[in-house]
Amino acid sequence: MRLLSILPTLSAFLFESRILEDAGGSSSINAFIKNQYPIAKTGILDNIGSKGRFARVAKPGVVMTSPWGSPVGYNITWIRDSSLIFKVIIDTWADGRDDTLLPGIYDWVASQGRLQKTPNLTGNLTTGGLGECGFNIDESVYTGPAGRPQHDNAALRASSMIDFASGLIARNGRQGHKYVADVIWPIVVLDLNYVAHHWNVTGFNLWEEVVGSCHFTVAAQIRGLKQGSELAKTLGYKHQHKFWKEQAENALCFFQDFWNPNQAIVVSNINCNGPCRDTVDMGTVFTAIRNFDPEAGCDNGTFQPCSEYALSNLKKVVDSMRGTYTINQNRSETEAIAVGRFTNDAYVGGNPWFITTFAVAEQLYDAIYQWRRVGKITITSLSLPFFQQLRPSAKVGTFKQGGEDFKRLIEDVLSYADDFSLINQEYIPADGSMSEQFDRETGEPRSGLRLSASYASAVTAFDRRRGYVPAAWGGADMKVPGVCKTGP
Ligand code: NOJ
Ligand code: NOJ
Repeated sequence: MRLLSILPTLSAFLFESRILEDAGGSSSINAFIKNQYPIAKTGILDNIGSKGRFARVAKPGVVMTSPWGSPVGYNITWIRDSSLIFKVIIDTWADGRDDTLLPGIYDWVASQGRLQKTPNLTGNLTTGGLGECGFNIDESVYTGPAGRPQHDNAALRASSMIDFASGLIARNGRQGHKYVADVIWPIVVLDLNYVAHHWNVTGFNLWEEVVGSCHFTVAAQIRGLKQGSELAKTLGYKHQHKFWKEQAENALCFFQDFWNPNQAIVVSNINCNGPCRDTVDMGTVFTAIRNFDPEAGCDNGTFQPCSEYALSNLKKVVDSMRGTYTINQNRSETEAIAVGRFTNDAYVGGNPWFITTFAVAEQLYDAIYQWRRVGKITITSLSLPFFQQLRPSAKVGTFKQGGEDFKRLIEDVLSYADDFSLINQEYIPADGSMSEQFDRETGEPRSGLRLSASYASAVTAFDRRRGYVPAAWGGADMKVPGVCKTGP
């Protein structure tokens, strides 16, 4: 059963971790990880109420997006950020790497259970309130400006809840099972029924700027629904199992519409209502990371990190930003660069971001894991430009593990990925603190300071680099239906 597949994954990652560490890379990346990993992990915990150093005033389990309201109003809690950050904490706990995290996870579940039911500016439980972006840190309604609604939030929260549920069932037996059934399940039902009815509905994208259908959002919905259908099966809820499974498949069918075969890129936003940023966008790289399933192959349908679609897209997104920031000016056309959200970003100066630069590295660390697991790398005409930028002599073909070509390709990709991580290292101040952005001309910290999401992006990139992968989510057995259906 997939939900209980955490144990094989555990042994797989131990095995892989050894291989990756053997693969070495430069000593600078290892030193960077050794130094920054604990800082980043502490940075996250510092921002969580009510024990966190900067979050004493926040309710237990509430993640402050950043501790301060200046220079941007980030001293509130975003559902998206909070769900992704708790996923990092949950994965670490589920792997048995840090049991002290467990009480904080229970706090988060309780807090989200309350927030979920709090009527807010977007609506209440029956009128769309699950599309709200965030709340104040005392769990009161946030009345400031925001892009409302955002349909990824409920899906991301449900996925993190279900990852926790899988961990509890695997680790805590009957007692874990009871908490899952009594506490997690009711929260998940509300979120996923909302998701099942909204994957086909437009809303604000993950960057909270464009109204339409968003690639990342639909990916989050597919994953949430698929995980939910598996949990429903485990708990014996036949109706939910069937309903969410069908909607996951329908959403996966729709998800294919974002691929532009002529340009071999993903169009981030479609069906826009108003101005559409219909260019390449780092949000799509977050999609590859979100949908990464350690048990899946290089599948285009679910946009796996090692798929030809995701690699072609990655190259084009990075290349789109090569001329954008002054700090990259001495970096060649094939080297790692600092990247931001998209080329014409204007938000707080439109600088490069830590989370986006780490995302490039993370997609590639994930891809390396997948190639090693399937035992081969297949270069197609679509992914060839990606590989050729690293080694001009790269050719279309299948290269098996054990051979020289495979080894060289892995080394190329690993060192390219490491270089993106090391770009971030250059711009992290001496105390290790991580803002949202760093100045396009000077590299100095910009926008939200001590941003929880920036720390989380360091932890996940480093974890993947070291071969720690999250539990599978069912992506491996998803097939794109031949005929697409609309929503329920
Ligand atoms: C407006 C920005 O344009 C958007 O990207 C950001 O997410 C929100 N403000 C929230 O800070
Ligand atoms: C701006 C980003 O665009 C958005 O994705 C994020 O949720 C908020 N900042 C808070 O970190």
